[in-house]
Amino acid sequence: MSRWNVYVTNEIPKPALDMLAEYCDMEVNRTGQVLTKPQLLEKVKGRDAVLSLLTDPIDAEVMDAAKGAKIFANYAVGYNNIDIPSATERGIMVSNTPGVLTDTTAEMAWALLFSVARRVVESDKYTRLGKYKGWGPMLFLGQDVMNKTVGVIGAGRIGLSFAKRAKAFDMKVLYTDIAANPQFEKETDGQFVTLETLLKESDFVSIHTPLLPETFHLMSEQEFKLMKKTAILINTSRGPVVDESALVKALQSGEIWGAGLDVYEFEPEFSEGLMELDNAIICPHIASATIDTRTKMGTIAVSNILAAMRGELPPNCLNPEVYK
Ligand code: DGY
Repeated sequence: MSRWNVYVTNEIPKPALDMLAEYCDMEVNRTGQVLTKPQLLEKVKGRDAVLSLLTDPIDAEVMDAAKGAKIFANYAVGYNNIDIPSATERGIMVSNTPGVLTDTTAEMAWALLFSVARRVVESDKYTRLGKYKGWGPMLFLGQDVMNKTVGVIGAGRIGLSFAKRAKAFDMKVLYTDIAANPQFEKETDGQFVTLETLLKESDFVSIHTPLLPETFHLMSEQEFKLMKKTAILINTSRGPVVDESALVKALQSGEIWGAGLDVYEFEPEFSEGLMELDNAIICPHIASATIDTRTKMGTIAVSNILAAMRGELPPNCLNPEVYK
């Protein structure tokens, strides 16, 4: 079996790169910068495989530049950055890294929920600025989490992991998806409702849906109007699921109470006004960013490449019809 020539579009944890280096010749983009389109087109030339990130738009042009490549192994569970039909047309396999980041992402959604509800970031800034002069009965009043209602949009793996944790806080769970999910209900005691009911009745709304044409701007002006004025929105899925300028308006006007965001519509750019809001926590897309999880994501992406190299179907192949 000859060694493959693999391009890695950004630095990933060392154990994954070591695993790849054992079997393949590789080049890694170690600049710390996302490659520009012209750089990407140049770098993928002549490779047998490309380990790509969610920040790399892998379209037909990139695939044509990577003529001869057998697999694009995406270092993410989400793969909206890759044009799968074009890959399939060209006989290129595409893989992702499902499973390992499920609980890690769910934990981050809870971290954001608690941080917004209890105004953790805002009060930390206040303290560091030397403004804390003594305990005050009205200082940074937040929202209780226990015994409240949490609405989960998207009952997939991450939505389920997030919802299961609501039991620990004696919360009522509502959820919505394209269809009811008996397994989700069994594990969370969640109740299947329409998006409208979920928005009207939930104190916290957490988004766990993939970005699809059907979920683009799922949350927009009308949806924010349905939410409680005390409600908090959490988004750890994909930015464009939320109409960000409508969200900024809803947060500015007090239509909703707060938001905890890890993803953005125009990532890494922010819609006008978002940065200035004290009632929003804005994190740099770190929901899966733990040492353990990012390492596992790397070794899974590499395992997919190595399986393809051995002539096997990669375990996380998203278009297995290409496998011959
Ligand atoms: C994913 O994997 O899709 C996350 O957004 C990044 O870890």
